[in-house]
Amino acid sequence: MSLRFHEIAESRHRILNPFTDDKLDLLGELCQPPPGTRHLDLACGKGELLGRWAATYGSHGTGVDISEVFIAAARTRAAELNVTDTLTFVTADAATYAKQAEPRSYDIVSCIGATWIGGGLSGTLDLMRPLLRPNGLILVGEVFWNSTPPPEAITALGLDDHTCLSLAQTAATMDEAGFDLLDMVLASPDSWDRYTASQWWTLSDWLRDNPHDPDAPAVHDALRQWRTSHLEYGRQYLGWGVFILRPAIPLPTP
Ligand SMILES: C[S@@+](CC[C@H](N)C(=O)[O-])C[C@H]1O[C@@H](n2cnc3c(N)ncnc32)[C@H](O)[C@@H]1O
Repeated sequence: MSLRFHEIAESRHRILNPFTDDKLDLLGELCQPPPGTRHLDLACGKGELLGRWAATYGSHGTGVDISEVFIAAARTRAAELNVTDTLTFVTADAATYAKQAEPRSYDIVSCIGATWIGGGLSGTLDLMRPLLRPNGLILVGEVFWNSTPPPEAITALGLDDHTCLSLAQTAATMDEAGFDLLDMVLASPDSWDRYTASQWWTLSDWLRDNPHDPDAPAVHDALRQWRTSHLEYGRQYLGWGVFILRPAIPLPTP
């Protein structure tokens, strides 16, 4: 049900994270991938990042996602953007795909908003690092706490199984994993609303159109819970951003 809930809730979204178009474009301006850049996007959703960068910068990419619905949307979007020649989309578990991919074969490896694929931030960075070519970049999208949340916020936001850190602790985890944090683009309360609040209308329409669907009661309950937790806790406590990293190089000993 969880995956189907997201497929329904995000059926009108292109970007499946708390970024607006401007913020996604800013990420491209910061990274400036040269033409021919090889990019692997793990948990790529509807492939908007890959599609835009292929169209704007001439990068080549592979997107992997577990949802057939999202992968189908990614292929349609790539056709709209005229970049089907340079992009490939695969329906698969991203961690399995990453473990079987050829080492050192990508200039950019990204995982935007799905660090559970590696059991958390550190594990996901471990999955991504071997796939990078020398001088490659990692882009990782991750949640963090804006301030210490009460325990009920963690449960209400469904983050019991996710180690969610403060922004500074998130940066420290990247440092301990052996990466230089080069830059970041963060969501704002407004961009969170565009991601989250805009799903309420989509879900409400779906419930009106599909009242007899076997998942309708669960979707109804999930919508109410999702809306309440965002208003009560998410807007105040939850941050999100995309972090641009590269493997750290040890300083030469004097
Ligand atoms: C928050 S969305 C982010 C999607 C995309 N990166 C974006 O920013 O638009 C999380 C994505 O992870 C995908 N996903 C969840 N578990 C996965 C797994 N084990 N392997 C691959 N994709 C997965 C979902 O289908 C969904 O597209």
